[in-house]
Amino acid sequence: MEQDSKLNIPTHVAIIMDGNGRWAKRYGLSRSMGHKKGAQNLLKIVLYANKLKIKYLTVFAFSTENWNRPKEEVDYLMKLPIEFFNEFEQRFRNENIKIKVIGSRNDLPQELVDKIEYVEEVTKDKTGLTFIIAFNYGSQLEIVEATKNIYQDIINKKLQIEGLTPQIFEQYLFTKDIPSVDLLIRTSGELRISNFLLWQIAYSELYFTKTLWPDFSTRHFDKAIKEYSKRNRRFGAI
Ligand code: FPP
Repeated sequence: MEQDSKLNIPTHVAIIMDGNGRWAKRYGLSRSMGHKKGAQNLLKIVLYANKLKIKYLTVFAFSTENWNRPKEEVDYLMKLPIEFFNEFEQRFRNENIKIKVIGSRNDLPQELVDKIEYVEEVTKDKTGLTFIIAFNYGSQLEIVEATKNIYQDIINKKLQIEGLTPQIFEQYLFTKDIPSVDLLIRTSGELRISNFLLWQIAYSELYFTKTLWPDFSTRHFDKAIKEYSKRNRRFGAI
């Protein structure tokens, strides 16, 4: 795949990793085991995206709405990134991968916040893939928070209302300094965006596949990139 010079490799890919629960049900396993398998798959896709020289990969790991799931599942999803980083942090460092976590840290367990701060710090100078995990993330909340901060900066005279452009607005989002999304992938057959990166996907190509996230292999990823390469992006022009 890498040798295919005709392929247009997107700069920023975002993924809604959906279908862990249905995957687990299919094999008679608990939903948590589906998420565990999903995390193992995530490692494979991150390493592969880095190999393809994709610059940014953003994944939706926990939404602000996921708190409404059963306590056992929420507790597991809070523990999973800690285990994931404990197991693979060194691997990411060796592979020159930078880690960034976006979303609100307010309601997260302190152990998870400490771990996030640690992995962000030890990978901050890496120059390969930037791997962005959206955790306790919701796009509408992100936009509302940005608006509040813009308001504050206007009353504190740090910003003039006439100077507020989309480019300045973006500087108030969690994704500040990260280019907008080129390709958004959602697995498991659902045709929704579910409050993920609403601002950042304004001109993204959308790719939906029925494959459940734990089964989404590097071959499936290749297929999405090939499909993206064929699209004619016009950004509103003709
Ligand atoms: C959606 O599937 C998936 C999630 C809510 C969690 C995604 C998390 C992972 C893939 C693990 C990420 C791990 C780390 C370490 C960041 P679902 O549970 O809604 O599946 P269903 O629709 O089939 O029930």
